[in-house]
Amino acid sequence: MKATITAVGGFVPSYILNNDAITAMVDTTSDWIEKRTGIKERRIAKNDDHSTSYLAVAAIENLIQSYEVDPLEIQGLILATATPDYILAPTASKICEKSGLLNAFGFDMNVACSGFLFALEMGATMIESGRYQKIIIVGADKMSSIVDYQDRNTCILFGDGAGAVLIEKAVEGYGIQKTILKTDGSGTDSLLVPAGGSKNPASLVSILHKKHFIYQDGSYVFKKAVASMSEVCNEVLQENEWTKEDIDWVVPHQANLRIIKAVSDNLNIDFDKVKVNIEKYGNTTSATVPLCLWDFKNDFKEGQNILITTFGAGFSWGAACIKWGVMRRRKNEKSKVNQLQSAECLS
Ligand code: UT7
Repeated sequence: MKATITAVGGFVPSYILNNDAITAMVDTTSDWIEKRTGIKERRIAKNDDHSTSYLAVAAIENLIQSYEVDPLEIQGLILATATPDYILAPTASKICEKSGLLNAFGFDMNVACSGFLFALEMGATMIESGRYQKIIIVGADKMSSIVDYQDRNTCILFGDGAGAVLIEKAVEGYGIQKTILKTDGSGTDSLLVPAGGSKNPASLVSILHKKHFIYQDGSYVFKKAVASMSEVCNEVLQENEWTKEDIDWVVPHQANLRIIKAVSDNLNIDFDKVKVNIEKYGNTTSATVPLCLWDFKNDFKEGQNILITTFGAGFSWGAACIKWGVMRRRKNEKSKVNQLQSAECLS
């Protein structure tokens, strides 16, 4: 038995931070940002109340309404996030409460930019065990809460957002066929938030030294991302006995357009098959892959072969081969959240 994605939802805040606005904050140019990253704008949760749980609840609400899912039937919620509402209590608990997932257990998983793929694999194995039938995986991050808008190495990259999927038992031959997940502690010092955890608890000194913001050795992470994603994609394709010709779509983590292009070049896959929305949202960490699945859901047809790949802090990376299964029927294209969002954008 395999698990398959049967519904998708997403949410991004209405406030748009474009490259021109960033040039007013740090020494950079719109042209540099777009050429070196592919990013034109990102969404920011401006309202202080709009924490990661708010973004996740909005994405789940979008999924529930669009596909008329009964929240009481959901048995489990796995939240992938690097920016929980609090260090302690789990953000997933609040999400279950606010989304009406009153019969579901919930827990947080922090695998940074690879979080969604890791959570998807955990959920899939629970469905495959036969002990659970309906699990929601949500990737959500409010990266603006850990970005230093005076640091040009990072503030150009990140945005806020959330994407959610429902996974259920697949019709035979469909669903998540093979996943490979990897971790490597060698990357910890190259991409991290140095303080606020048990190693460097929050203090006046840590705040003065800006240790609660994300730090990244960009060019080192870039090279590791390209090499690791290329390698793990080849490995998962080989283990699943797919060749590059079998692939209909690639859904990669959206960290940098040049990384995505380099990986598709290494795999020798036509770039037309690669899904990209980084220009609109930047790097939303745990949310990039589910936001891509949400944005491009109309392109994915039953029986098509999709390759997902991610890379993030830790380092952590992975890839999955999915034979797109039967989706639940969608009520209509626009759910309440989408309408609210469009109304917000227009106002
Ligand atoms: O999602 C988790 C994984 N994260 C990633 O995969 C992100 C990986 N890294 C990247 O996306 C890229 O490394 C960055 C976008 C962060 C930086 O791009 P890069 O092409 O690797 O630039 P670089 O760090 O090698 O710097 C090249 C030059 C330097 O100037 P010099 O030394 O050549 O004079 C930098 O000082 O570009 C300069 N630079 C900038 N210039 C204008 C660095 N950041 C900026 C900036 N605006 N924002």
